[in-house]
Amino acid sequence: MAPAGRRMSPPLLLLLLCAGTLRATGAAEAVSPERSLVWGPGLRADIAVPVRYFYIQAVSEDGRNLTASPGNKSFKVSIKSLSTKEFVRIHVPDPLDRNDGSFLMRYRMYGSAGEGLVIEVRHHDQHVAHSPYILKGPVYHEYCDCPEEDPDIWQQTYSCPSSEEQISKDFAPFPSIDLKRMLEEVPKRFAESRGAIVHYTILNNQIYRRSLGKYTDFKMFSDEMLQSLARKVRLPDFEFYINVGDWPVEHRKANDTPGPLPMISWCGSSDSRDIILPTYDVTHSTLEALRGVTNDLLSIQGHTGPTWDNKTEQAFFRGRDSREERLQLVQMSKKEPELLDAGITGYFFFREMEKKLGKAPLIGFFDFFKYKYQVNLDGTVAAYRFPYLMMGDSLVLKQDSPYYEHFYTNLKPGKHYVPIKRHLGDLLDKIKWAKENDEEVRRIAKEGQALARELLQPHRLYCYYYKVFQMYAERQINRPEIRDKMEQVPPPDDNTAMCDCHRKKVDKKDEL
Ligand SMILES: *[C@@H]1O[C@H](CO)[C@@H](O)[C@H](O)[C@H]1NC(C)=O
Ligand SMILES: *[C@@H]1O[C@H](CO)[C@@H](O)[C@H](O)[C@H]1NC(C)=O
Ligand SMILES: *[C@@H]1O[C@H](CO)[C@@H](O)[C@H](O)[C@H]1NC(C)=O
Repeated sequence: MAPAGRRMSPPLLLLLLCAGTLRATGAAEAVSPERSLVWGPGLRADIAVPVRYFYIQAVSEDGRNLTASPGNKSFKVSIKSLSTKEFVRIHVPDPLDRNDGSFLMRYRMYGSAGEGLVIEVRHHDQHVAHSPYILKGPVYHEYCDCPEEDPDIWQQTYSCPSSEEQISKDFAPFPSIDLKRMLEEVPKRFAESRGAIVHYTILNNQIYRRSLGKYTDFKMFSDEMLQSLARKVRLPDFEFYINVGDWPVEHRKANDTPGPLPMISWCGSSDSRDIILPTYDVTHSTLEALRGVTNDLLSIQGHTGPTWDNKTEQAFFRGRDSREERLQLVQMSKKEPELLDAGITGYFFFREMEKKLGKAPLIGFFDFFKYKYQVNLDGTVAAYRFPYLMMGDSLVLKQDSPYYEHFYTNLKPGKHYVPIKRHLGDLLDKIKWAKENDEEVRRIAKEGQALARELLQPHRLYCYYYKVFQMYAERQINRPEIRDKMEQVPPPDDNTAMCDCHRKKVDKKDEL
């Protein structure tokens, strides 16, 4: 429920603004268009992520960052082709109010702008910061096949970190990668039992693959990401196997004989050696934001519920019955309803428990943030909602877990979230502690949110993918090849890809 009491209708708001009395009413602090800040990758022509984005920070006349929303209509953004002769379809929603004095501006281009773009950011009728921003063309859209040939230049442009702790850790057991050995062993060891392995070869920036098994539908996510990346940067030649099932697969230890194989998965665990990529969920959310999906990692930033003081002081959980602790949590909440509101929304693994525990109605994910504390319990593996919970402004109580996603190593328990024991023995005490230490808890929630916002930015995701592929390619000791039964992943066959790529392409020798 939106707090309605003090909100003014737009005409009244306008009247007050004209009279210059807004400040006196105390409704919101006045914004200085000159001092406010605008920054981010969406102001650069050469960062071609599916949804381009930048940030606006409202700053007061005396130079302080606003920490509460100055109103969700405070900033207006227009984005147009620089050339009046060129029409480019661009989806430009309103800036997302992040309710902390900052805004996230997103836009999705459906064509490339040859001459460039002009981005105007206004507060009422005044330009904000250095608006108008001119992005000198060409500004390519997501589907334009126009890879940067020099990966170093590309990584600099995207401000990719020079190293990622998780990637270094993942590759430590694999100083070299023997493709011949993998070709012999992978199908026997991993494909026959699980049937969720997809074998890819990238040659000359073209993508080929074959499925090893029946449960490989999720290859649509790896296909999409590889294609998206190959449109932005020239990929190295490499050949790898991705496990598109839930569980990591390689359980041999680094010093076992025979040694482990460098399998690639979406989720890692402390007892497996799989090299991990961002999950299909994070990937899909990034590729399809403002298009196919609505609860994505960008839009969530504008839907974090009531302000801290107006959140219900309870821990909250809704989810399916994919792990026993989830049922245990519901039982705890029946005993301590003041502290914890937990419910199972769907039964599949423990159907016999439905009678006893009941079924909670589904609620929209954004409504989770009406509660101050969020309980994150594993599902079959890591709960893929964790990144979304971290993006909210509630405190996350995270179950200790052997499972992890690509960005977890950057988060510190106690600093960015509050850890709880795997068997949940300390959960109720931690909730009580949280209620008694509101200031500290709020700070942890904020720090966690800030780090998640940084780490999970779309351009960082592309950096992560590239780095994994680069490290992998460097370690290969044989030449990647297009293997028997592989087929090329076709580019989109509609006209969404039409564009004029001005980058000089290295000659592609057609090998087929
Ligand atoms: C909390 O909600 C009330 C009623 O909707 C509203 O008047 C008040 O401004 C809110 N408090 C904060 C800190 O946002
Ligand atoms: C204001 O916000 C910007 C953008 O988040 C940040 O870089 C800057 O450090 C903040 N300034 C102060 C004084 O906190
Ligand atoms: C702005 O706030 C109003 C009032 O709460 C809400 O109805 C509207 O949907 C919001 N607009 C945007 C773009 O978020």
